[in-house]
Amino acid sequence: MNFESLFRLDDQVAVVFGAGSGLGEVSARALAAHGAKVVCADIDLHQAERVAVELEQTACAVDITNEEQVRQVLNDTFERTGRIDVVVTTPGINVRKPILQYSAEEFNRVIAVNLRGTFNVLKEAGRIMSEQGRGSIIAFSSIRSQVVEPGQGVYAATKAGIVQMVKTLAAELGPRNVRVNAIAPGVVDTPLTAQIKENRQWHEAYANKSALGRWARADELAGPVVFLSSEASSFVTGTVLFVDGGWTAIDGRFQPPLP
Ligand SMILES: NC(=O)c1ccc[n+]([C@@H]2O[C@H](COP(=O)([O-])OP(=O)(O)OC[C@H]3O[C@@H](n4cnc5c(N)ncnc54)[C@H](O)[C@@H]3O)[C@@H](O)[C@H]2O)c1
Repeated sequence: MNFESLFRLDDQVAVVFGAGSGLGEVSARALAAHGAKVVCADIDLHQAERVAVELEQTACAVDITNEEQVRQVLNDTFERTGRIDVVVTTPGINVRKPILQYSAEEFNRVIAVNLRGTFNVLKEAGRIMSEQGRGSIIAFSSIRSQVVEPGQGVYAATKAGIVQMVKTLAAELGPRNVRVNAIAPGVVDTPLTAQIKENRQWHEAYANKSALGRWARADELAGPVVFLSSEASSFVTGTVLFVDGGWTAIDGRFQPPLP
């Protein structure tokens, strides 16, 4: 093993779903910086193109809730490049409301993007990678897969569901040399959490909850994505990498009066 190139992705092909914003954009930037050719896919083509143009990579429009569109993007990439080494999927939405006030439409909308959309990517990426006999798939879960607060019911259920799908696909595709992992961020400053940033008390309470006492910057997710994409994680599959500043390790509500 060449330790110097452990994290390099030269000549490899990566497809990033959700590359137009937040953690998907960071993933695309990080993978390209490590040598990968990156397809920046997003429902918002304008944003995907913004990122792709800057990185001198390619962009495409895709709605991950549409199985056919996901299959098309991956098939086109494979036909064009002859390989897909890494697939990252980040799209996720949240409607923060008590369960008693959740409408059926809101429930369906969150499930459609977070669970069904991630399922579509896992399935179609897994299909291509199992045929080629290698690859790494990274899905985005959350601390909400483990710990919750009022208003997170449906979102949390999808994030726990993603973990179980990731583990199952890892079990199914391990013999085909395909690795499947999840990243579970804590609170990260992206458009997804803009609603919280607007409320100073809410924002500070979240900062104080983690061991590091602050929010994550989006670019702090770059390292975990590159790690799980590269040879550096060649024996890591079916796992959940918490990138949460210690949020899930501590209860964080009380500072005991210690000497
Ligand atoms: N930001 C956080 O604090 C945080 C914390 C824990 C987990 N996460 C998870 O990380 C992931 C990424 O979050 P983010 O903060 O980057 O969000 P974001 O809102 O900044 O970016 C999401 C991107 O996905 C795209 N998208 C939305 N629906 C889509 C669809 N149907 N098909 C294709 N693209 C679609 C959007 O256009 C956008 O570019 C999510 O799954 C989220 O649940 C985020």
